[in-house]
Amino acid sequence: MRLLVCARPDEVADTAAGLIAAAGPAVLGVATGSTTEATHRLLVERRAVATGTVMMLLDEYLDLPVGHPQRYRSVIERDLVRPLGLRTHQLIGPDVDSLDPHRAAVAYEAEIARRGGVDLQVLGVGRNGHIGFNEPGTPFDSRTRVVALAATTRRDNARFFDAPEHVPQRAITQGIATVLAARSLVLLAVGEAKAAALAALLDGEPTPDLPASALSTHPDLTVVADSAAMSATRALTTASNMMEMR
Ligand code: F6R
Repeated sequence: MRLLVCARPDEVADTAAGLIAAAGPAVLGVATGSTTEATHRLLVERRAVATGTVMMLLDEYLDLPVGHPQRYRSVIERDLVRPLGLRTHQLIGPDVDSLDPHRAAVAYEAEIARRGGVDLQVLGVGRNGHIGFNEPGTPFDSRTRVVALAATTRRDNARFFDAPEHVPQRAITQGIATVLAARSLVLLAVGEAKAAALAALLDGEPTPDLPASALSTHPDLTVVADSAAMSATRALTTASNMMEMR
């Protein structure tokens, strides 16, 4: 694991955009949410994504109407695909309009494999330690599937919707084993709300109680965090050999 600690959130975005640009992934795994927004803006500003790049969604809500602005497909189209001049078919996600979402999830897992797997997966982390929509308790060998969102996740994501009850109850998410199959992982953490989850990942043993802790078993994980997100971890003193301050 490589740990890059930045003083401020904008430095996290700058570092993450630099890592993505340097890796030049043919298949880029994309996540949504507040944390990744600034990184996406920099990728666009710097035209740092090759024109042939394929992007694959980490997760996607179920039960939102086609074209809903909070569908993750809509978000990534708006923030990355269109401003980068990529084509719609270069963004791939699960078919959440399928009459059989369970089958659509299995098909998406197969599609990721058919594309040769994800080269670089960008991840945020939930306050409760979720990655993708893999909520606490998710087995580490989980694959892409239909999941129910935790109450805390629905509350956290209510800010993107007109009313809390409009946050979907279900989603399709890549599983933890699916995420771990990506060739490299970049986890971004910004703000004090993520401090406990990050501390559990950096200081503790991997446990399904904290899905993000599974990432520490990956051979090519880079964590990019600001000092607020690092405020609860002992890693600053215990792991200085693997840490770089930005
Ligand atoms: C989004 C996703 C989620 C978010 C996480 C953090 O595609 O998979 O796991 O990365 O909920 O969200 P923010 O960045 O909004 O705090």
